[in-house]
This record gives sequence, C-alpha cells and structure tokens, in this order.
Amino acid sequence: MATRTKTVYRCTECGADHPKWAGRCDVCGAWNSLVEEVATKTAPSGGASRRAGGARSLAEGGSVAPTPRLREVSGSESKRWKTGIDEFDFVLGGGIVPGSMILIGGEPGIGKSTLLLQVAGRLQGAGHPTLYASGEESALQVKLRADRIGGDTGDVSLLSETNLETILTTASAVAPQVLIVDSIQTVFTTDLEGAPGNVGQVRETAARLMRFAKESGTAVFVVGHVTKGGGIAGPKTLEHIVDTVLYFEGENSLDHRVLRATKNRFGSVDEIGVFRMAEDGLVPVANPSELFLGDRAMHSSGSAVTALMEGTRPILIEVQALAAKAGFGTPQRVATGYDGRRLALLLAVLDKRAGLSFSQLDVFLNVVGGVRLQEPAGDLAVAAALASSVYDRVLPHEALFIGEVGLGGEIRPVSQAERRLAEGANMGMTTAYLAERAVPRRVPKDLRATGVRTIGELFQRIFP
Ligand code: TYD
Ligand code: MG
Repeated sequence: MATRTKTVYRCTECGADHPKWAGRCDVCGAWNSLVEEVATKTAPSGGASRRAGGARSLAEGGSVAPTPRLREVSGSESKRWKTGIDEFDFVLGGGIVPGSMILIGGEPGIGKSTLLLQVAGRLQGAGHPTLYASGEESALQVKLRADRIGGDTGDVSLLSETNLETILTTASAVAPQVLIVDSIQTVFTTDLEGAPGNVGQVRETAARLMRFAKESGTAVFVVGHVTKGGGIAGPKTLEHIVDTVLYFEGENSLDHRVLRATKNRFGSVDEIGVFRMAEDGLVPVANPSELFLGDRAMHSSGSAVTALMEGTRPILIEVQALAAKAGFGTPQRVATGYDGRRLALLLAVLDKRAGLSFSQLDVFLNVVGGVRLQEPAGDLAVAAALASSVYDRVLPHEALFIGEVGLGGEIRPVSQAERRLAEGANMGMTTAYLAERAVPRRVPKDLRATGVRTIGELFQRIFP
C-alpha cells in the first residue's frame, strides 16, 4: 500500500486551501465549494525579487524542454483510427485520434457500456489492442453482454477494477492502444480520502487518465453517468479536462439513441449519430428522417414537419402541438424538446400578429422522437402546428415549414435552405414554406418552394 499523499480541500470559488472539509469556505463564504485535491507543492517564496535573478529562482526544479519551430513538427492529422461504425466515427470527426481522451456521458441505462463494448470489438478487430476496464460489472457480466451483441469482441482484454493505480499500472504493462474506463464515477485513487464518484475523485482520476493518454499515446474513453438534471457528476470541470465530450441521449421508452459531440478538439461539434437499441446491441441508423417521421399520424391537426441541420446533415422532424381549453387558473404551457421561453414568445407573436389568442388555452408542444429543436429554423413549424391545433385543421401532410419567426411576425431566412429542401424531397415532401428571400434558385424537381413574408400570409395560404 502506498503511503498517503497530503491532501487539501480547495475552494472551487476562490481557490483557498483548507486542511479540513467544511460546508462553507471561510475565506470567500461560498457554500459547498470545497473539493478534495492532492496538495501541490508551492514554490518556496523566500522573498523572491522582481529582478532577473528572481526569475531563475521561480523556475527552480524545472528542466530545459525542446522548443521546435512549427515547421519542424512532423506527423499528420490523417492518422485516425476508425471503428467502422460510421455514425460513431463521424461524430468524432472522422475517427479516434491516438492519445486523445474522450468522455461519453449519458443517463444510466441509455447504452454507453453497450456502445463502448461494440466499439472495443471493432477497434480490436482493426488491429488496435483494446483494454476494457469496468468498475461497474464483473468480467462475466461484460462477457454476457458481449455474447448478446455478438460481433467480434473475443480478443478484447478485460479488467474488472476500480482502483486507478491498478488500472494505470495494468494498462502500462498491457500497453493497449485503446483504454476504456467504465465508469469514471466508480474509479478512485488512494491518494484522496473521498469516496469514488465525489468531485475531487472524479477530477483527479480524470486528470491522471488524461496524462496517461498523452504520455502513452493511448486513446482513452471514459464513461460518465449523467444525472437527470443533465450534469456529469463531478460536473463541468470534467469537460474542461478531456479532449472530446460525447453525449448519448434518448428517451428510455423509445429505442433510438442520439450521439452528440458537445466539445471536440479534433472536429466539429455539430454532428450527430443516430442509433437504434436492438436485441443484439446498437444499430446505426443511416436515415434518421425516416425514423423520426415513421409513426406520423396521418390526419390529425397540430402536426407540422421541419428540416433541421444537425451539423452537415439535414434531418426531418415532426412538431406536435395541442391547444386545449384550460381549466381554472393560469393556463399551462408545457414544451418537450423545445425551449419554454421561446414557446411563450411565439405564442405572444401569434396573438399579436395573427390574432390567435391562447389566453384561455393550455398549450402542449412536443418535438417527436426525443429530439431537441434548438435551431430557430424550427419556429415556423412550431407556429404552424400551434395554429393548426387552434383552428383544428390538418396541415398538408407533405409540407415542410422552415424559418425563423421574428417579433414582428416576419419570417426570416435560414442557412442551407437548398440542403434542407433536398432532404424534404428525398422523404417525399411536395411543398415547402420558407422565407421569401430563402427560396433557393435550384429547387428539387418534385417539390414546390413557396416564399412567405409573414405568419399572417402563411396562415392565409394554408388555411384559405
Ligand atoms: P447499458 O449499455 O448497460 O447502459 P449504460 O452503460 O449507459 O448504463 O445499456 C443497458 C440497457 O440496454 C438495458 O436496459 C438493456 C438494453 N440492451 C438492449 O436493449 N440490447 C442489447 O443488446 C444490450 C446489450 C442492452
Ligand atoms: Mg454501463
């Protein structure tokens, strides 16, 4: 057993060190801000002067490191390892960068371990030795899962361990190219007294895994459980440490999952990958629009379709609205997959600019498939769905609504209209309503693009 290093409790607000944990920092007064850390050696102060001699004493204990010119640095970006699971490689920006650390966050049970086990099998098969360290499951449990998902995972090395020092020592000995740590909340270092999963432990173990990745060139994946509130326990600090943060999301009741990068030092953060959780593991979905529009009710009011850009890919999404007579008291506004304040704003615009009053109505808005509609381009579909529900008139089934709605009820153009329309035409849409200025010169053959200036004009057209 190693001797215990000295630890301190550092305030995350003001940085003050405390020898003991307390609920409140007595320097800045912040509550619950003390986090256990390994004590760092502070430079001997000894009245360092500001003159040249003082500068040297500041550097005491360091050594001279190489400082190559930029043009002398060699190596190429193209050296990425591919899993062959396109949706996964795509979200990472074209594959895994050796020596990088990737955090995969998601709610418990969403499929993180399943995804990483499939990834492990593919990487191992592609000639990148992979070590799967599980602190959550025994070797047998991992094997049972592997049997279930089939594929070629037989050569993946397993380590059922929670002690970080053991994991790192083993990894140094086995020298894999890929190390998977499932999950960061179960791993602990003996240097800190706190229980696994607390903020200090999570930060310290993540920082050491990161150092291991950089020094050995191993690609390190860490799983991080996310609470219902959306934060990875041992919160945002973890995101700053790693190179790439992927979130695996979806509704537990539905079987599709969306993998999304929220930070990527080696690629774009806009791309998403869509998977379906099947009996035998996760299956990539090549055409997400099909999935999201699959179960659309044919003839009911309050349903509208828009085309979103998820990174470079357009995806068709259905928006459903229900405006129903409210009981006593303040009418309800409930939005799923859409910003509640944005909904309130659109309701006010519809009232003021199109004469649609919602003051006596409960309003429910749902973006189908557990997707989050964040792009302003979805406004027009939300407005159309709301109007359709109020009038109780069905919108044309094969129509797309694309555009941002301004406070004056004007419809603003959105980027990449051409690509959105192309995806619409692919999915059998025959009409598209969008801002007049956004109508592209080239429109797909079987689709009619109609430019509209205001929501009032749109409603006159669709509800003549
Ligand atoms: P898991 O990967 O254990 O989730 P996480 O690591 O994010 O906690 O996934 C668990 C769920 O996935 C569980 O409810 C069972 C389901 N599942 C399938 O539907 N098919 C499969 O092939 C596998 C392995 C799991
Ligand atoms: Mg798991």
